[in-house]
Amino acid sequence: MQRPSIVPIAELVEEPYSSVICYPKLNNEELTRRVAELEGLGVTAVEFSGGASAFGVRVPLLGKGFAGVVVVGYIKGQRVALKILRVDAERPDLLHEARMLCKANTVNVGPQLVGASRNFLLTQLIEGDHLPNWLRRQKEKRVVQKVLGEILEQCWLLDEMGLDHGELSNAPKHIIVDNNQKPWLIDFESASDSRKPSNVTAVCNFLFSGTGKVAQLISEILGKRNKNEIMLDLKVYRQQGCRENFEKIVDSCLR
Ligand SMILES: Nc1ncnc2c1ncn2[C@@H]1O[C@H](COP(=O)(O)OP(=O)(O)OP(=O)(O)O)[C@@H](O)[C@H]1O
Ligand SMILES: [Mg+2]
Repeated sequence: MQRPSIVPIAELVEEPYSSVICYPKLNNEELTRRVAELEGLGVTAVEFSGGASAFGVRVPLLGKGFAGVVVVGYIKGQRVALKILRVDAERPDLLHEARMLCKANTVNVGPQLVGASRNFLLTQLIEGDHLPNWLRRQKEKRVVQKVLGEILEQCWLLDEMGLDHGELSNAPKHIIVDNNQKPWLIDFESASDSRKPSNVTAVCNFLFSGTGKVAQLISEILGKRNKNEIMLDLKVYRQQGCRENFEKIVDSCLR
């Protein structure tokens, strides 16, 4: 892994940093606008560190997706996650994501929103690992049960408040487990508060009844689940999403 570098905001107009601010295609006008936007948010420096990389970028990143690249930002001396909208992203801005995360935060779900503008989203920095990697390292059944239980609980809270995350049915990169074994749902770009929420159903399919790598890892650690029972519980919960029906799901998934 490369050495992390902390770069004051005035130096972001220089390579190799400028190609991160305007990933994947550098445009000088856009770069100037974006650096001013960062200043307006109170960002004083950016740290290039982490395990992710991007094509043509010579510095390490915290994360990379289809909508954004993520680095560490400094604001009032604090390290935060700074998501930068890719210049080729399909969506116009990060403001919808900020609004949805802000709603999730009201029930203590998702990293705390710190700030947002058109091209940047500042959130609490979660230091940990994506769920699949965490599961590969963590073989203690009780710890895994606790973390998965907490994920289900967060999904219940979102269902209850009417916010659908939208990307939990296949979420290998949308759940991070931090170094204190606390799970975090991230990336609310596809979230909606007008669609019928199906967070519990989506995440259960992903974690327990799907055929993917994550469901396989979980079944190796916890033992085989009764998929028919889980499916039936989910069907009942979809008809009536009360706490009692949710707890039946938790029981079938984690007992
Ligand atoms: N608050 C955070 N703390 C730590 N790491 C983060 C945080 N937010 C995002 N990341 C890292 O950056 C990656 C990409 O973030 P995110 O999923 O928000 O971007 P995206 O472009 O919408 O991705 P995708 O195309 O997968 O939807 C995450 O998988 C994660 O590794
Ligand atoms: Mg995304």
